[in-house]
Order: sequence, then C-alpha cells, then structure tokens
Amino acid sequence: PGLALGIDIGGTNTAFGIVDHKGTILFEGVTSTKSHERPESLADFIFDTLGEHSFREQLIGIGIGAPNGNHFTGNIEFAPNLHWKGIVPMAKIFMEKFNKKTIMTNDANAAAVGEMLFGAAIGLKNFVTITLGTGLGSGVVIDGKIVYGEDGLAGEYGHIRVVDNGRLCGCGRQGCLETYASATGVVRSIRELESDYKKDSVLLTLENPTSKDVAEASVAGDEFSREILDYTAKILGNALADFLCFSNPKAYILFGGCAQAGKTFSDKVKSYMELAALKIYQNKVEVKISELQDRNAAVLGTAAIVFNGITK
Ligand code: BGC
Ligand code: NA
Ligand code: ZN
Repeated sequence: PGLALGIDIGGTNTAFGIVDHKGTILFEGVTSTKSHERPESLADFIFDTLGEHSFREQLIGIGIGAPNGNHFTGNIEFAPNLHWKGIVPMAKIFMEKFNKKTIMTNDANAAAVGEMLFGAAIGLKNFVTITLGTGLGSGVVIDGKIVYGEDGLAGEYGHIRVVDNGRLCGCGRQGCLETYASATGVVRSIRELESDYKKDSVLLTLENPTSKDVAEASVAGDEFSREILDYTAKILGNALADFLCFSNPKAYILFGGCAQAGKTFSDKVKSYMELAALKIYQNKVEVKISELQDRNAAVLGTAAIVFNGITK
C-alpha cells in the first residue's frame, strides 16, 4: 500500500514522519519552524533528511497539517503564530519538491482523521476532536468525513465567543473559547483566578506553570489546580453542550492542555456538558481522551489524511 509522509507545522516546531497504512511510524523528525526563513527551505530540509533513507521512493503522498491550513487551496491562509507572512502555498511547494500528491488541512482536522484511522474514533462516524494547544482547534467529522464548508475553513470552534467582553483573543475579538480552554488559556487562568488555596499551591512554586502542570497537580490533589481544572471544564463543557446542536456527534475527543489530566478532566467536562445540553442530546454523547496524545499524534494525524484522501 505504500507509505505516507505526514508533516505537522506548528509555531515552534515542525514534526514530520513516515507512516505505513497500519499507523506504524517508521521514521520521525523535527525541525524548528523559525529556522526556515522561507517556506521552501522547510521542504528542502525534509526532502534532504528523507533522502538519507530509502523512504522517498515508497511515498504515495504527503499530508500537511497547519493552523489555518486550507484543504481547498493547499495554502496556509493567515496564521498569527507562524513567522511567514501572508498566504503560503505550502502544498504546492511540497508537491513541486517531492513530485508527490500533497494534501493540506487544518491541524485539528488532521488530528480528527488520525483519531478516525488510528485512535479513539475508530468506528465512529460522527465526532468532533478538540485540540487544546496554543490555540483551540476542532475537527468536525460528519458521516465519516471532515466538514470543510464552502471555503475549506469550517470547524473553527476555538473562536466561538463564550464570554461577553471576555479575554482578548489573537484573532482581535474578545471572549473566544480558546482564550479560556486552550493550553495558553489555562495559563491565563492561573494568573487570573483568585483562590483561598492559591497561596499553598504547588503551581506558585513553578516559574512558568503550564497546563500540563495544572493537569498533573490536580490529579495529585492540589486544590488550586483542581479549581482551575474545574473552571476550564465548566467553560468547555458548556460550549460543547451548544456545539451538540451543530452536528449531533457521538463523541468529543479531547487532546492536549487539561486533557493531559485524562479521565479526571473528561468526566468533569462531560458532567458540565450534560447539565447544559438540550434534552434530546442528554446521556448520549461521550467525552473521550485522545488515544494519539501519547503517541506521535502530529505525525499519525497528518499521515492519516494521506491514507484517507488517496485510494490505497
Ligand atoms: C486556529 C485554528 C487552529 C487552532 C489550533 C486556532 O487559533 O484558528 O485554525 O486549528 O488554533 O492550532
Ligand atoms: Na478545523
Ligand atoms: Zn478568537
């Protein structure tokens, strides 16, 4: 069946890997995104790295996931967290370098396809993946297919506004879900939340506490961390209750950020979601933790878009 090259472009690092159709990662690499001043040099770098092995000849295609990656145009449209300015025709750049079919999609869409082929969504036809990273991404799957919408830009749940006059978002608006529930949103909560337990919290002994620290400390019983986890779960659970009305999913699959606390977090999110859900959806929807987050999700997810989009 051949091999896929999966590439996940992020603000800090770009991960890439060679994956077979069963989801076995045969090779993986990472490079600092910023070290490539021009997008062409990223393609050159990955091409040369793979040239040292015999993978290039066996490739059936290339899959790229990126924030604001557009499936229809193959471009990265406008990405505040990337240093390349303007529109970057990344799929075209890779296609010309490798001479292989190249598919671009949004990073969270890639995660959803990854879960569908190799992770927690095997067998599910209707689900939504929510990635809690620098931003909050969503991949919406209906009838086994990612929803792309008219321009290839559907599924931007991170920028649905959930708090009136709330936190300022990178998109220039206020109160977007990602400013509360993403990994960076959680760090903002550490700074903002007042609490009686706060002074005793292990979080305050750390110089730069992250959402992972919040997740770990709350599982270990730290009261302030539990309060932040609960606050995050409430905002996310409420939002997920409303999103049920969009696509009637069977499951939400959470990845990264507070989801690193595992079931402790997903159970909380689920109970807030149930409290707020329209009656017709109650007690029907699962909130799961990604099964890819402990593996190389970025590589598996982006390779999966190749296997999903190119007939083997
Ligand atoms: C972007 C999405 C992206 C998400 C996660 C959001 O701010 O708008 O396109 O999927 O962050 O990277
Ligand atoms: Na999306
Ligand atoms: Zn926003």
